[in-house]
Amino acid sequence: MELDRDTENIEAEATREADAVSDSRALYELKMKFLGRMGKVTALLKGMREVAAELRPAFGKRVNELREALENMFAAREEVLKRKEMEAKLAEEKIDVTMHGKRRAAGTLHPVTRVKNRLIDIFAGMGFEVYEGPEIESEYYNFTALNTPADHPARDMQDTFYLTEEFLLRTQTSAGQIRVMEKKKPPIKVLSPGRVFRSDDDATHSPMFHQMEGLVVDKGITLCDLQGMLDEFAHVMFSETSKTRLRPSYFPFTEPSVEVDVSCAACGGKGCSLCKGTGWIEVLGAGMVNRRVLQNCGIDPDEYSGFAFGMGIERIAMLKYGINNIKLLTENDVRFLGQFKD
Ligand code: DAH
Repeated sequence: MELDRDTENIEAEATREADAVSDSRALYELKMKFLGRMGKVTALLKGMREVAAELRPAFGKRVNELREALENMFAAREEVLKRKEMEAKLAEEKIDVTMHGKRRAAGTLHPVTRVKNRLIDIFAGMGFEVYEGPEIESEYYNFTALNTPADHPARDMQDTFYLTEEFLLRTQTSAGQIRVMEKKKPPIKVLSPGRVFRSDDDATHSPMFHQMEGLVVDKGITLCDLQGMLDEFAHVMFSETSKTRLRPSYFPFTEPSVEVDVSCAACGGKGCSLCKGTGWIEVLGAGMVNRRVLQNCGIDPDEYSGFAFGMGIERIAMLKYGINNIKLLTENDVRFLGQFKD
């Protein structure tokens, strides 16, 4: 029968050509060539009209068998090609999981933050709590209550940024002492870190800098307690062998007042350019809280005494890390900032 020959030929042709194509796209086009609307198998069916009526069922059956055979053949071939394509894709996209990754630069804490955290650690270990006061202060808290009335010459030394007659950017974290003592009765042991502002600008002064204030008020507190705590601070912050020394000084809110020096960690106290040959470096101001300051806060100075100290955090960071210009701390140069990892 002619039809048998035709279908066999078509099947053989389709199989041969399907074996020859090498990707699933070309296979699809080939499939359309045989089974699509204009395809060869469809054309066969269209020719059914010319077939004698009694032969049509056999003809139809035969063409349907051919269609089924081709569909199966194409499906099988497609599976083979798809698998090959997937393998090729996997091979091409293969990643070596043992390769080094791209390292992301991890940030480091700013030296001022480092020193501040370290200071809080040191004093928290001695039982201090942290209190942070406001940066905009009234002149009462910043000066008057700290025994520095409006006509006091010590006000001039602080190059204050006034916002109004009454309000200013705090020049010292000492203002926080008053706020604490107004609210809390002794025993008091607080640490008050924060930004302070002064109209001052050179290699070691910046209009904004950070201070750390300490205040202890209780019965029987003496200057020896202050020195003992500061010794501990110097050992942890600078070196095990650091020593401290108190020199007489003046602050309106303390009596007596002292400047505290720490033996120079760079030369071990022998004298070098950092300590200007003296073997000592001034690190903070301190003293016994002035009776008047206690009275201003409703604390009886005959019953209680206290000491206070205040230090510049930038200054401590500069000494600790050997930084010679305070501006480096605010320039945000990551080459500089990335060096502090201790
Ligand atoms: N507030 C002082 C300043 O900024 C530092 C200071 C000195 C704070 C003596 C104190 C203190 O608490 O007792 O220069």
